[in-house]
Amino acid sequence: MEDAGSPSAVSRDRRELPARRRDPLKTINALGLAGSLRVGSVNRTLLRAAVRAGEPRVRVRTFDLASVPLYNGDIEAQGDPSPVAELKEAVRDAHLVILATPEYNAGLPGVMKNAVDWVSRPPRPNAWEGRPVAVMGATPGGFGTALAQLQLRSALAHVGALVMPLPRFGVSQAHRAFAEDGSLADPATAERLEHFLGSAAAWAARLAG
Ligand SMILES: Cc1cc2nc3c(=O)[nH]c(=O)nc-3n(C[C@H](O)[C@H](O)[C@H](O)COP(=O)(O)O)c2cc1C
Repeated sequence: MEDAGSPSAVSRDRRELPARRRDPLKTINALGLAGSLRVGSVNRTLLRAAVRAGEPRVRVRTFDLASVPLYNGDIEAQGDPSPVAELKEAVRDAHLVILATPEYNAGLPGVMKNAVDWVSRPPRPNAWEGRPVAVMGATPGGFGTALAQLQLRSALAHVGALVMPLPRFGVSQAHRAFAEDGSLADPATAERLEHFLGSAAAWAARLAG
């Protein structure tokens, strides 16, 4: 039996939570954030694939983290810069936040952590509190960003976000995973993404009800 906690399990995990009978949200307005600024980023590509995946109930709007400055308490004391204020508002307005994270040195890259930190301010209440979140990631490596996802989950739990526990979704060998049009080339991986998005929609609906 596979150890679900092992890094290799992240891209194959198919367990999920039991469905709930009442499902009050017909359309899930989701916010998608990618933790990479690179034009050719596999995580930006994964997020675009999620936008286009065709999960009928999920409408994903993306927000580019390139405009968000590094967190600095002195800047914050003068008032949020407009990209930060817009990011916080976008998180507050979303039924669901979908995060696509790269992995750097066995952990969470600064771009994503910086976004989590800005949105966590001021701490009580902060825009993450009670917010349904789904975490995914892509890497050319073999472990599907499992370690970055763990750190991201930990930070989000700390600030009160409600991170979907299962299924987990990560794309390994991401440099070969996408077709020229940005869709996932492997039908089984594309099907896993759809399953992940469907589960994320159910997670958001369950928490809204
Ligand atoms: C500083 C640095 C550290 C990295 N460390 C890891 C790592 O620990 N695990 C991993 O899977 N990939 C690692 N990578 C490779 C990234 O997964 C790869 O650069 C990936 O394309 C980054 O995501 P992006 O394409 O969305 O920008 C690292 C890359 C950089 C620049």
